[in-house]
Amino acid sequence: MRTKLIAGNWKMHGSLAGNPALLQSVASGAATLPTVSFAVLVPFPYLAQVQARLSGSACAWGAQDVSDEVRGAFTGEVSAAMLLDFGCRYAVVGHSERRARHGEDDARVAAKALAAVEAGLTPIVCVGETLAEREGGQTLAVVFRQLDAVLERLGVRRMAGTVLAYEPVWAIGTGRSATPDQAQEVHAALRQRVSNADWVVGGGLQILYGGSVKPANALELMRLPDIDGALVGGASLAADDFLGIGRAAALA
Ligand code: PGA
Repeated sequence: MRTKLIAGNWKMHGSLAGNPALLQSVASGAATLPTVSFAVLVPFPYLAQVQARLSGSACAWGAQDVSDEVRGAFTGEVSAAMLLDFGCRYAVVGHSERRARHGEDDARVAAKALAAVEAGLTPIVCVGETLAEREGGQTLAVVFRQLDAVLERLGVRRMAGTVLAYEPVWAIGTGRSATPDQAQEVHAALRQRVSNADWVVGGGLQILYGGSVKPANALELMRLPDIDGALVGGASLAADDFLGIGRAAALA
């Protein structure tokens, strides 16, 4: 049985003054839902604050990106070891917003996932197709290409130290979630792809769904056999919505 993980991707939101109220509500809500795992993925400058506020709580934390380099002349980058210094468990890699805005290709995403795993962080590896790719019948080809780059770079055994997130680009921040059938089809195919290399790793892999998840659609998504939680953007900024998704995961 795979534990469900509800991870809040704050993106470029938050403030030093406003974060404590949200963190406090999330931590106390998470404590009432012990069968579900929670995490918040926050901007780098808030990691110290989040570590101080969430240490010992039922909510883990992490960053939204990590360098593929260990150290050196890489202006603006943050290494996995630095994230570990702030108690991070997770780092998102390959989010579609970074792929699109920062030109992160499959090889770079795979290198970041490897750097994270080698350091002892759990990368949340994002894959997902654009609307044009879906309409062109390319969905599985695209997500397999993105997954295969990571699978080949890490080797299937190291995949056991990762979380996968399927986030159709057309569903992110649009209010338009994938239908349960669309999501389940891709999740099952991703799991099968990993299981073909190692069925134990494939069977144990947590695969999150992301893209306009909210309390109103969470239960039908979380009930699907190959959906093991959610990567939540907009709805992670309001404690009631984020915890509502967590309650759906507990019920599912
Ligand atoms: P959204 O974002 O929930 O606001 O659609 C999800 C994500 O990009 O991780």
